[in-house]
Amino acid sequence: MPSRWTFTILPVSEMLDRLVGDGRGWADPFAGENSPAEFTNDLNRERPTTHHGQAIDFLKTFPSESLDGVLFDPPYSPRQIKECYDEIGLELSQVETQATFWTACKDEIERIVKPGGTVICFGWNSQGMGLSRGYALREVLLIPHGGMHNDTIVTVEQKTESPLFHMADLSGPAAHEPIIAGAASPEPSQGTK
Ligand SMILES: C[S@@+](CC[C@H](N)C(=O)[O-])C[C@H]1O[C@@H](n2cnc3c(N)ncnc32)[C@H](O)[C@@H]1O
Repeated sequence: MPSRWTFTILPVSEMLDRLVGDGRGWADPFAGENSPAEFTNDLNRERPTTHHGQAIDFLKTFPSESLDGVLFDPPYSPRQIKECYDEIGLELSQVETQATFWTACKDEIERIVKPGGTVICFGWNSQGMGLSRGYALREVLLIPHGGMHNDTIVTVEQKTESPLFHMADLSGPAAHEPIIAGAASPEPSQGTK
């Protein structure tokens, strides 16, 4: 069963320890209960975050290229968005359920992360920030939850230092090259019995 609190899943917390450490210079616009980031935000006032507001408004407060990294773990579906809003008795406007809201959040993240900085995205796909925004994929963590549950997919991307990277990128809407990972098949064993 997937946990509601992504950062308590063991492989995720290990990854965050390794990549985020004490969280200095990191921001988390959808921080929930367990974010290691220095600057944290959640719409729900019961969450132990430094800010309580709309994710997009929080992201807009940071100067350009000022952060070492951003954690991006929003609700993963319209149903989850509605559950978050119901929990705090807020009326869900159409804005948050439209793709433009998420594009606007990613535009801000693209702006506020330093060259060489890191964005870690969580969800049911590996979209992340993408090459077209100048972010190169460094790691993928796939967490199967079994049964009918969606996997949790974590992408770690680094903002490239060079503006030439953008010019060289002809990938269009496809965010990344396909990733093929896994252990090589062992050679068939010969006469082990
Ligand atoms: C998937 S949870 C984050 C879990 C967190 N990473 C953890 O492990 O503790 C998403 C969080 O985003 C908050 N949220 C949902 N919509 C939001 C919005 N538009 N702006 C800010 N926070 C929002 C919810 O209240 C919820 O706590």
